[in-house]
Amino acid sequence: MDAGCSKRMYNTHEGSVGPARESDTANTAVAGGVKRLQVALRQATRESHHVIDHHPLMAPLVRSDLTRQEYTRALVALDWLHAPLQCELATALAEFSGEFELADRVAWLHKDLIALGATASGPQPAWTPPRLDGSAELIGALYVIEGSTLGGQVIARRIEASLGLSATSGARFFNGWGAETEARWQRFWDFAGTRCTGEAGLALATATATSLFDALLRGLDLAHGWNES
Ligand code: HEM
Repeated sequence: MDAGCSKRMYNTHEGSVGPARESDTANTAVAGGVKRLQVALRQATRESHHVIDHHPLMAPLVRSDLTRQEYTRALVALDWLHAPLQCELATALAEFSGEFELADRVAWLHKDLIALGATASGPQPAWTPPRLDGSAELIGALYVIEGSTLGGQVIARRIEASLGLSATSGARFFNGWGAETEARWQRFWDFAGTRCTGEAGLALATATATSLFDALLRGLDLAHGWNES
């Protein structure tokens, strides 16, 4: 399977690089800004997250009676959503080359679909993610995708218990960064703190995170409809 993203650019730089910090005062200001951003993003998307994790395509993932069919359907839907989204993120990140490493989640999803013996599910309508025109929009969208890796750790443990799948046998996507999850999450916030500043940045980032959650939800509804019809 191919993600069909001609604009892909994955950065292999491992560090979280920001502008040199000149004084403790500057450090404190950045830390305070990040804290506000964290609180604002979490608050703005709390309700949408609740709706997503109770969505009929997602909720079975954490149940002990999860079936392979339910799991495969969730992965097919996530693949359909992540492919265009990953292109948009990679394009927006190109401007900040070397500052943040974007995971190839589409490759993780394909690995799982192949392990499960799933075939491409035929023509699907296009799903378009929100446009990411600036760094604050990029941070808002990255928050949603990087944050989902945290829940992925919980889901991966449940999938191991229900279906016996590990990162190498069909659950690569949800295992995500594995033991590195916390460190990667911190790197995201280091990047966010340097690239999303001020009131305007905070407002744009939260608006983008909210509209991405809404778009993902609409996409999941559509994908659920394919299964019902
Ligand atoms: C497309 C689907 C999903 C997206 C975009 C998403 C997004 C996010 C985000 C942004 C966060 C970080 C919140 C924060 O700390 O600021 C998060 C955390 C979390 N998510 Fe999700 N999520 C998704 C699906 C799910 C599902 C299906 C579940 C479980 C049924 C789930 C469970 C969790 C949990 C438990 C956390 C908190 C983890 C922790 O604090 O250690 N998520 N998710």
